[in-house]
Amino acid sequence: MEVIGLDIGFGFTKASNGKRSMIFKSVYGEASELQFKEQLLTGADQEEHLEIEIDGTSYFAGELAERQSVERFHTLDQAQFVTDFTKILALVPLSRMVGRQDPVKLVAGLPVSYYRKHKKQIVDILKGQHEVTVVDQNQERTPTVIRISSVRVVPQPFGAVMNMMLNDIGEIRDRRFLDEKIGVIDIGFRTTDFTIADHTRYSERGSRTLEMGISKAFTSIASKLQESSGVTVELYRLFDAVDAGSIKIHGKKYDLTLIREHAFTQLATRIANEANRIWANDWDMDKVLVTGGGGRVLAPHIEKLVKGDIVAQEDNKDTRLANVRGFCKYGKRLWTRGSNPPPGR
Ligand SMILES: Nc1ncnc2c1ncn2[C@@H]1O[C@H](COP(=O)(O)OP(=O)(O)OP(=O)(O)O)[C@@H](O)[C@H]1O
Ligand SMILES: [Mg+2]
Repeated sequence: MEVIGLDIGFGFTKASNGKRSMIFKSVYGEASELQFKEQLLTGADQEEHLEIEIDGTSYFAGELAERQSVERFHTLDQAQFVTDFTKILALVPLSRMVGRQDPVKLVAGLPVSYYRKHKKQIVDILKGQHEVTVVDQNQERTPTVIRISSVRVVPQPFGAVMNMMLNDIGEIRDRRFLDEKIGVIDIGFRTTDFTIADHTRYSERGSRTLEMGISKAFTSIASKLQESSGVTVELYRLFDAVDAGSIKIHGKKYDLTLIREHAFTQLATRIANEANRIWANDWDMDKVLVTGGGGRVLAPHIEKLVKGDIVAQEDNKDTRLANVRGFCKYGKRLWTRGSNPPPGR
């Protein structure tokens, strides 16, 4: 039996079994047979070949789809994301992380505000047997059966809380968490989730989704680029450029640092205002954890604006993985620790 945390985000899909994690862009496309696939220069980043055949159709996922699929799919619409993306984006990492027929117990997340609406749908899509074929870069095909025996869906930022509170085998890491009231701001690509863990209990009142994430800043950067270069750059192609502070379009370099600063400051201000507003009565919070991939990039802007003792996550950790690590720890607590009840549920 394998316990796996799965966080299908609008920006990145993340999966973890506690020992190993996978992360790739939440983009897929139709697979094509690559005629020539030698790396032009050795030493260049070896990208993972994520190819899978489901119900007779082959798909590329992640960077491979971005580079090689003629038609690529990426969405920022929640309903469409659940119906058209969940299955493919889930089966890609599962087909690589679990053995044939090995029963999988899965913990997956949904944004706080979509939790009720889509929870059952996610379970229905994922639970059961999935016959798929993994295709490697040499077109070697390995059929496998993914057997998902249990699916537990939780509100996304609950993962970051569990990651902080539990150790790798799902036990409380530090008794002090039992007495604390902790706010979490999970900034993702499309959504920002707010939640409060009060003495390890999930607080419905302090939990909210703001339909605003890093993609909001990317949209204004893309529209400025459209004005200056005439090219419409898809949002999911901006990660590296925004990080680097410049982009080359048709051989010309465009500086992004000023517009990035402006867009991030504006976004951080709106997120901070929302936090201060929904937590106005929660002045007794011990600390506020800023997490999610967007948490890392916005932390310097947000720290000054949100009221309370802000803790950003450790520098050397990829904050995009905080939720999925927590999902996995929570799964271990649920399913591999015997009969002890999990905290707060
Ligand atoms: N190493 C990195 N590579 C790419 N993006 C990164 C990296 N580190 C942080 N980021 C930021 O992380 C963001 C994505 O964060 P995250 O993976 O938490 O979002 P998501 O969960 O996919 O989105 P959502 O929660 O809205 O569904 C990107 O927009 C980018 O700004
Ligand atoms: Mg997320």
